[in-house]
Amino acid sequence: MADCPHALGIDIGTGGVRAILVDVQTGKVLARADTPCPLSSPQAGWSEQDPRDWWRAACDSIAAVVQKAAAEPSTIGCVGLTGQMHGLVALDENEQLLRPAILWNDQRTIDECEAIHERVGRERLIEITGKPALTSFTAPKLLWLRKNEPDIYARIQHVLLPKDAVRLHLTGQHAIDVTDASGTSLLDITRRDWSAEVLGALDIDATWLPPVLESPDLAGAITSEAAAITGLSEGTLVVAGAGDQAAAGVACGIATSDTVSINLGTSGVVFAACDGVPIDQTGAMHTFCHAIPGTCHLMGCMLSAGGSLRWYRDTFCPSMDYAAIIAEAMQAPAGCEGLHFLPYLTGERTPHNDPTLTAAFTGITSRHTRAHFARAVLEGIMYGLKDGLDLIAAHGPSPTSVRMTGGGARSTPWRTLAADIFGIPVQTVTVNDGSAYGAAMLAMVGSGHFASVEEAMKICVSVEDCIEPSLGQQQRPAV
Ligand code: XUL
Repeated sequence: MADCPHALGIDIGTGGVRAILVDVQTGKVLARADTPCPLSSPQAGWSEQDPRDWWRAACDSIAAVVQKAAAEPSTIGCVGLTGQMHGLVALDENEQLLRPAILWNDQRTIDECEAIHERVGRERLIEITGKPALTSFTAPKLLWLRKNEPDIYARIQHVLLPKDAVRLHLTGQHAIDVTDASGTSLLDITRRDWSAEVLGALDIDATWLPPVLESPDLAGAITSEAAAITGLSEGTLVVAGAGDQAAAGVACGIATSDTVSINLGTSGVVFAACDGVPIDQTGAMHTFCHAIPGTCHLMGCMLSAGGSLRWYRDTFCPSMDYAAIIAEAMQAPAGCEGLHFLPYLTGERTPHNDPTLTAAFTGITSRHTRAHFARAVLEGIMYGLKDGLDLIAAHGPSPTSVRMTGGGARSTPWRTLAADIFGIPVQTVTVNDGSAYGAAMLAMVGSGHFASVEEAMKICVSVEDCIEPSLGQQQRPAV
């Protein structure tokens, strides 16, 4: 398998499923395919998806990417999976879906998070799992089901996260990797396995949970049924993979504590590798297991980053594309003459950890034009991410540069504005496929093409562009 010329990365995103085919010799992406998935919000603050849509979209994206690259399926040595983190997929004893998946951006579990803190002890939970219980996480969702849908809860026999639900279709195996398991509130991040103490305190059945593997570990192979549906070859290896944030960290080459990445998608995530297992007892900064075996990373997640810009576009200028909105924003001066945007459209996780927070424009005067409003949104998102960078600096070395990935990283003017607000250079990497590329890199380690994740980073990741801060650090407004 180490000799096979291709690796496949599959990202089960919230907007849809991306597949990429990578040439393992050059690290180049030969083809990519995206298939959208619908999202539903049955009540305010709820966010759900049908896992069958992920599987259908994965099949379509896999078939499309193999066809686009004109690759023989047998040339794919290994598959890497990544995806949106924290979502709850509940299955019965026959591995049948019990209800739609409850996603990472669902905010219904405020009471359940409090209940978890009461049962385990907030300090003890942070000590074991690296962070407090957050509405995004999987365990509060299970407690919510126990209280609100007891008939469904009574039939649960298996709990999976989004990418692992797709893995079950591909390989017939139940498995999770340490990075995704770190986002459940149930993992002991020092032992890198499920915490019997937390499971016991929450009265959650340990047999529902899949075995926990390191990210580049092999976790099965494509079954004949999956081969018939996807066009992949039966027996193709599949690695454990990683949650989308750790996979994006891999794709940005984040291996040591002085390198930091920002993944700018719907959410905005500040990500830093760290030494040992640092714990922030205040619960503002969150520690997860990294996709580099045996190591951890710090992470701050802003819930509405690119999501704020999408909201602005959909609400105020639906006929404009993002490039046009950003160009208009650049007509307004830095600081927007006192107009500010607080980007808490869906509550906030880092650093405020308050699902009830709401967004605001402040300081509006008659001088302000639409360009000011657009720039205020772009600046507000970057100030939110700066909060995450400051927290990382408080727990280790101050970042000296930031590597940006994700859709938001494609805009040079927005990266320039970010460099001014952060006061440090903002870089991009040559391959901006983020999580999907990280998953393909993990597959190349699993297949034996690379000896380690660090080696894959050395060979596959290089800096493409670097924007220095031009004004010194832009002064943060007092809001
Ligand atoms: C990370 C998080 C989000 C999702 C979105 O903790 O909640 O970034 O993973 O894909």
